[in-house]
Amino acid sequence: MKHIHSYYSPNDLYNKIIDGLNELDRDLSSLTLDDLQPVDEFHIRGDVATKELIELAQFTPDMHILDVGCGVGGSTRRLSQETGCYVTGIDLSNEYIDAAERLTKLLGMQERVTFHAASALELPFEDNSFDGAWSIQMNMNVEDKLGWLKELYRVLKPGGRAVLYEVCGNKNTPVYFPVPWAQDSSMSFLLPPDPFRDVITSAGFIIEIWNDKTDLAQKAFAHMTEPTGEAKLPVLGVHMLVGHDILTKAYNLHRNLDEERVSLIETVAVKN
Ligand SMILES: C[S@@+](CC[C@H](N)C(=O)[O-])C[C@H]1O[C@@H](n2cnc3c(N)ncnc32)[C@H](O)[C@@H]1O
Repeated sequence: MKHIHSYYSPNDLYNKIIDGLNELDRDLSSLTLDDLQPVDEFHIRGDVATKELIELAQFTPDMHILDVGCGVGGSTRRLSQETGCYVTGIDLSNEYIDAAERLTKLLGMQERVTFHAASALELPFEDNSFDGAWSIQMNMNVEDKLGWLKELYRVLKPGGRAVLYEVCGNKNTPVYFPVPWAQDSSMSFLLPPDPFRDVITSAGFIIEIWNDKTDLAQKAFAHMTEPTGEAKLPVLGVHMLVGHDILTKAYNLHRNLDEERVSLIETVAVKN
């Protein structure tokens, strides 16, 4: 798991994001979630997908929700802002959690949104602690999917809904690397949708909703071409999280989607 942690460990991330915001002339005293969106929602279809997941989740303001593998917390904050929920985010990367906490304070959201550095395989919470949970594009880095899902099941209250938005394998192999979640195959553990669904139910969950979103992912990456020469990257972007070869990674994701090597699944699973 160490090499996965190092992959998601940029130096001085918070200050680099602040420098980017200053370069873009954003007023730090009236920053919005949308100002941070290019860098803090690190998943396919970004904030558009997060808003769809919020609709799907049906979490209510009195609830306390867990975000597993929250990254720098863009979706964690959006979930809280749009629903009024308390949200706790956990992530393996101390660097992401440091940036998540400082950005949340900058936005004045720290009363409702908190973070911990922790592994999805060892959640630092009591049984039955959370009313609901979500996990957005983390499973690809988790080899022990049953261990992760059993942990998620353990910390949810009975009846709690877990929303998962996950890249899965597909009919064809191998996957082209690097991709946004992995430099090479040693960090990527993809199951095709049906076996992934089986692991979710083996952990004890009942599947309430199961949507294949691969076609929307294909459309989102349809414009990607093979990068040539020096990459022209935006001031704020996910290259700040996982490196300057992000265009190669996005191009490979496009190829993997089009050649049915990966798929994208959205599901709501409920604790019995
Ligand atoms: C592609 S990013 C998605 C981040 C975030 N959910 C988002 O959508 O912006 C994957 C995240 O999963 C985290 N991660 C990977 N393995 C993990 C584990 N075993 N426990 C907790 N977090 C993990 C990584 O550190 C990274 O932040």
